[in-house]
Amino acid sequence: MTDVELVWPNKDLTLRASGLTGYEWLQPTDKRLASRPTFTPLTALPHSQSNVLVVGDALDALQGLAENTDALAGGIRLVYIDPPFNTQVNFRQYNDTMQRSMWLSMMRDRLAAVVPHLAPDASVWVHLDDSEVHRARMLMDEVFGEKAFVASIVWQKKTTRDSRAAFSSNHDTILVYAPSGPRTWKTSRNLLAKDEATLRNRDNDPRGPWTDAPFTAPGYRKAQQYDIITPSGVVQRPPRGRSWYATRPTFDNLLADDRIWFPKNGEGSPRLKLFAHQLRGLVPFTVWGSADVGTNDDAKRHLLDLFPDIEVFDTPKPEELLERIIHIASSPGELVVDLFAGSGTTAATAHKMRRRWIAVERITQTVLDYTVPRLNAVVNGTDRGGITSPIAWTGGGSFEVAHVSPRLGLLPASSKASFVTRKLNLLARPRADEAG
Ligand SMILES: C[S@@+](CC[C@H](N)C(=O)[O-])C[C@H]1O[C@@H](n2cnc3c(N)ncnc32)[C@H](O)[C@@H]1O
Repeated sequence: MTDVELVWPNKDLTLRASGLTGYEWLQPTDKRLASRPTFTPLTALPHSQSNVLVVGDALDALQGLAENTDALAGGIRLVYIDPPFNTQVNFRQYNDTMQRSMWLSMMRDRLAAVVPHLAPDASVWVHLDDSEVHRARMLMDEVFGEKAFVASIVWQKKTTRDSRAAFSSNHDTILVYAPSGPRTWKTSRNLLAKDEATLRNRDNDPRGPWTDAPFTAPGYRKAQQYDIITPSGVVQRPPRGRSWYATRPTFDNLLADDRIWFPKNGEGSPRLKLFAHQLRGLVPFTVWGSADVGTNDDAKRHLLDLFPDIEVFDTPKPEELLERIIHIASSPGELVVDLFAGSGTTAATAHKMRRRWIAVERITQTVLDYTVPRLNAVVNGTDRGGITSPIAWTGGGSFEVAHVSPRLGLLPASSKASFVTRKLNLLARPRADEAG
């Protein structure tokens, strides 16, 4: 606990989903919080290896999954959420106008609910804009601990200028927390691939293009001080205060293996040739440009391509952005969770990158219009946009759809992507006890 705390009205209450889109404050002692959700399986339950799309509130979904399935049992490696930012704008697919205190409780309760299910090397990424990001950072300090803060990433979300505004805001912020702390988490996160376009093949090496690095190391080490005679006969010594990168026998082996490059037509100080597979990756910067990870408009173009006949989802994120996050924070086979799925960008990208995923979206119409058809296109191999080409995705895998409501618990609706849409028609009609 910190000595400085963000306070808001009703902070001590819990915010539960109520009706189709509303919320209600409940006392922590309220009986409804203690009762298990009623559970009526329609088909087989999602099992530990399923990809699952849950229709319902994020908190209900987490509790429904935890209490009724072992889908979370292996631990979540990555949580990425792109919740409503509280911009006070009504988008076509969802309202983004909450009272600030409600928004804060909504976020706190849902973030706190993921904590027991995180793997030891997990990270939680929360995507926001200037509307609430400063308060969300304090909130995350409270939920995960200040020491869990890893980074605040600035994503260049657009390249066009709004000339009517005081400043034309063109970035969002993504807050990254790792409960294990940045030092420990660093040992398990993946580096970014080096740009192989910078590799060249200056000596027609049959092993392919390469880059080079100085064959020196800092400090004086006796075993690494020796003369190297270059192909043109120049005698090279390590620069003052440095040593050669390796001892003489290692150097001789590298030379015999054609791994040493002498610049300046064979006269210069030796350099080590490094092929693509030997390159250490790059530590990610905290500013991510649109040229590398796409813009909101790129994401909209992708959706327009998939769904030319309906209005485009208002706030999608590009798959390239999610590809980078998923690459850094998880490995194939590990579980990626998105509690505010929208058009399904996280799930689609995670699927293509062969991660297991769980995604939750509360608005049934969004699920019917975008999320399910998009994920079906990913499974069928008919989604040609996003990261499909760069990673040579051709389709495959499956996912299950489940429905959760505060009082009914989790109702699996289907186990196969192919008949998801038909089964979901059941979900399109609100149940009598759900209307509100
Ligand atoms: C900013 S959008 C997510 C966009 C998504 N990242 C994409 O690329 O399409 C936020 C989504 O969260 C959904 N949502 C809002 N409150 C929710 C809740 N309590 N539980 C689950 N989903 C919720 C909204 O309906 C909306 O689709």
